[in-house]
Formats: sequence, structure tokens, C-alpha cells
Amino acid sequence: MKFEKNILGIGAGYVGGPSMAIIAYKCPTYKVTVVDINPQRIAAWNSDDLPVYEPGLDAVIAATRGKNLFFSADIEAGIRENDIIFVNVNTPIKMFGAGAGMATDLQYWEKTARQILQYSRSSKIVIEKGTFPVKTALAMERILSNNKTVHFDVLSNPEFLSEGTALKDLENPDRVLIGFRETESGIKARDTLVEIYANWVPRERIITSNIWSSELSKLVSNAFLAQRISSINAISAFCEKTDADITEVARIVGMDSRLGNKFLNASVGFGGSCFKKDILSLVYLCRHYNLNEVADYWEGVIKINQYQQERFILNMLNAMFNTITGKKICLFGFAFKANTGDTRESPAIFVARRLLEEQAEIVISDPKALKNARNDLQLEGIAGKVSYIEDPYEAAQGCHAIAVLTEWDIYRDLDFQKIYGTMTKPTFIFDGRNILDHEKLFKIGFNVYPIGKPALVHF
Ligand SMILES: NC(=O)c1ccc[n+]([C@@H]2O[C@H](COP(=O)([O-])OP(=O)(O)OC[C@H]3O[C@@H](n4cnc5c(N)ncnc54)[C@H](O)[C@@H]3O)[C@@H](O)[C@H]2O)c1
Repeated sequence: MKFEKNILGIGAGYVGGPSMAIIAYKCPTYKVTVVDINPQRIAAWNSDDLPVYEPGLDAVIAATRGKNLFFSADIEAGIRENDIIFVNVNTPIKMFGAGAGMATDLQYWEKTARQILQYSRSSKIVIEKGTFPVKTALAMERILSNNKTVHFDVLSNPEFLSEGTALKDLENPDRVLIGFRETESGIKARDTLVEIYANWVPRERIITSNIWSSELSKLVSNAFLAQRISSINAISAFCEKTDADITEVARIVGMDSRLGNKFLNASVGFGGSCFKKDILSLVYLCRHYNLNEVADYWEGVIKINQYQQERFILNMLNAMFNTITGKKICLFGFAFKANTGDTRESPAIFVARRLLEEQAEIVISDPKALKNARNDLQLEGIAGKVSYIEDPYEAAQGCHAIAVLTEWDIYRDLDFQKIYGTMTKPTFIFDGRNILDHEKLFKIGFNVYPIGKPALVHF
């Protein structure tokens, strides 16, 4: 079959897999190939055990794989045979040398640019889909301009999907952003990309901008989202000192139509691979341009997040008579949020490390993230008495305390009377997501510690 367009996605991770799959799903006349340097990841995409958990993803893959969606480890052929290339590679925080712990590590991106340069035999549109520091497209153009016979147009098309609702976000995005150069071929490239999205996204939601605004807007969107969480978390600390209730405060504040009610849930803190790294990237860029006050302002969002996680641990310690040595603590949830198996930068990693430092024993429970949890503890060298039990009833047995770290729906509807009966007394529950019925738990016999509201204790 001859396809209308041949599209390549480089990088088959949390963004590359779902976003390329949706293009294939919505555009059956296009052929979409996804490549990755990690052959195990490609093998997993070609199996029944997908490397990424997202509600609805199995069905989309089943409908497209082998028809117009292909996963392959052959990067060279992928680049040669496709003229539209989405770059979905990871852009983690740089952990060495200049900018360590702050700047974006661009080694994966640069390797991709060089591979595109090396293997291209015809003109290509190269699309930055990952989140890159402002002016990365310029660097990409400079590398690609070393091939004098092939023309490249670089576009910025940052992805705004949110893990856990990735498929919904991709199918029905608030906006699709395309940053382009005002040159004849830049405009043509922009129009080609608009045409792809217009297969399912209403035209008025496909917006175009100058390429640097596009790159910056992605960093700023994440910075604003994270800032909302840190803002409400900062106020949750204040509530705990004054007997105000963060849920009431958030509801009242959120009813102001200028503010809106989303992203106002107080919690143990935000995690995920993006918020921290994107804010740090913004902070690093600000410092580079000598905008130190601006950098300090955004760095505050990260500091409050760390403070919130540390506060959670200190509250636990304080509540449990200032010692948790030898006590058994069950973590309900390890994923950084509900409906994903992703644990990158999850507050649960921090909590696990700190509890083990205090010589507690921990039991980790999660419906989708146990494999990643195991890897994280191993990779981070976090040692101690740890067990992994998916069933929450079994996991909580014999424990002194439960800490709710992920807002999975299953935890809301558990039979806590039954759980209480199997736990060590006095029994504590630390609701790091404020998802449980605290009054009910208190009546059962738990000592209940929510975030940003008075604790309910029996002594
Ligand atoms: N995860 C999210 O929710 C999210 C949302 C929006 C944007 N983003 C951005 O999207 C980008 C990708 O994020 P992710 O979460 O999918 O990362 P990921 O680590 O899950 O996936 C990246 C993939 O790229 C592959 N890769 C790296 N270098 C390669 C190369 N040279 N050739 C081929 N494959 C290569 C890796 O093996 C990996 O499988 C990042 O810039 C991130 O900031 C992520």
C-alpha cells in the first residue's frame, strides 16, 4: 500500500509512543514508524506488555500496530525512508560538568541531530516534540546545515500531554503549538504539520508562533502548573499551624473565575520527569541571561516542593513519637501520579529513602508501578528492609502506618475497617493526597494526618 505521508518518531518513550500512535490512529493513510536506541523498548512496544501504561493505549496500539504503525530499532532506515521526523528523545537534567543539576542534558538530542544529518539523503522536516531549552532549534539548524545537498526545516511542536490522561489529551488537546521560521520553506513546513494535526484537531486550536516563543511557552506552561501546586502546598503548611482547612481554602480561591479551580490540590508534592527539570532549565537560562531575580522566583517553586516532601516526613516522625526505627510503614502508591506506572521524580522515592534512613521497614504497594519502584530503589542505591506487595490489604497487614502517596482511585474505596483490624496499634494514616474520608477513618480508630488540615488523633 502506498501511504500519503511517511512519518518517523525518534524516541519511543512516554511521549514518543503515545503521540506517534495517535497520529497513526487518526490518520490511517499515513505510515508512522517509531525508532529508539533502546532495542528492549522497541521489543516491548511490539509485544503485549507495552513499556508505558496509559488508559486506552492498548486499544490504540491494537488498532494500528502492523497496519500503519511500526516500531523498529533501525534508526538509519527510519531516517532515510521518512521525510517528516518528530524528535521525542529525553532531555533530562544534566548531572555532570557545567550546569550540573540544573541545565538540560542535550546529549540525546544532539546525537539525534547528528544521526539525522548522517543518514538523510533527501529533504526533511525535523520537529522538536520534546521539551528543549529556548534556542535549541537554532543549534539543531546549525548542525543540520552541514549537509549542503539536503535541506532541513526545523519546527518546534512541544507536547503538552499529561501522563495518566495522555490519550485523552492527544485526542482532544487544548492547543497544538507549532513554532516556525518565517522563511518560504519554514512556512511550507509549518503548513505540512498543520495539515497532519488538522486530521483530528479543530483548526482554531492549532496555533502557530515564532519558534523561540514556542520553545519558551512549553517551559513556562510547566513552570506555571508547578507553581500552582507549590502555591497551594505552601499555604497547606500555614493551614496546619492555624487550624484552617486547605480544602476549604482551595475551593474558595478556585471559585474566583480569574484563578479557576484546577491544580489546587494540596499534596506531598509534585513529581514526574518534567516539572522539576523544566523549571530548572528555565532557572538556568535566566541565570545565563543575568536575570537573577527571575531565576530566584522560579527556583522558589522547587524549594517549596522539597520543603513539602520533607515536612511530610517530619510530620510522620513527630506523630509516631519521634521514632520509626523498626516500625513497618506501608506506602499506598509509588507512581508520581494516578493512572501511570511512571515513577520518575516521584515523591515516593524521597519518602522511601527518608523512612529507610530512619531505619523503618517499608512495604510498597501500587497497581502499576512496582517494577519501576524496584528499579528506582536499586538505581538510587536505597537500601533497607523493603517489600513489594500489589494487594493493599496484604501490604498493610502488621504495619504501624500507611502513607498515601499516589491518588489512585482504588485507595478511596478500600475497606479500611478490615485494614485497621490487621494493623499494629496505635495505627496511623498519613494522607499525602487528601483523597480519603478522614472522619470515617478516625471513627474506625486510625490517627489521621491529612495535608493542610487539623490531624484527627485519639490521644
Ligand atoms: N513524560 C511527559 O509527560 C512529557 C510530556 C510532555 C513533554 N515531554 C518531553 O518529551 C521528551 C521525551 O520525554 P519522555 O518522557 O517520553 O522520555 P522517555 O525517557 O520516556 O523517552 C525517550 C526515549 O528516547 C530514546 N532515545 C534517546 N536518545 C535517542 C536517540 N539518539 N535515538 C533514538 N532514541 C533515543 C530513549 O531510549 C527513550 O526511550 C522530553 O523532552 C520531555 O521533557 C514529556
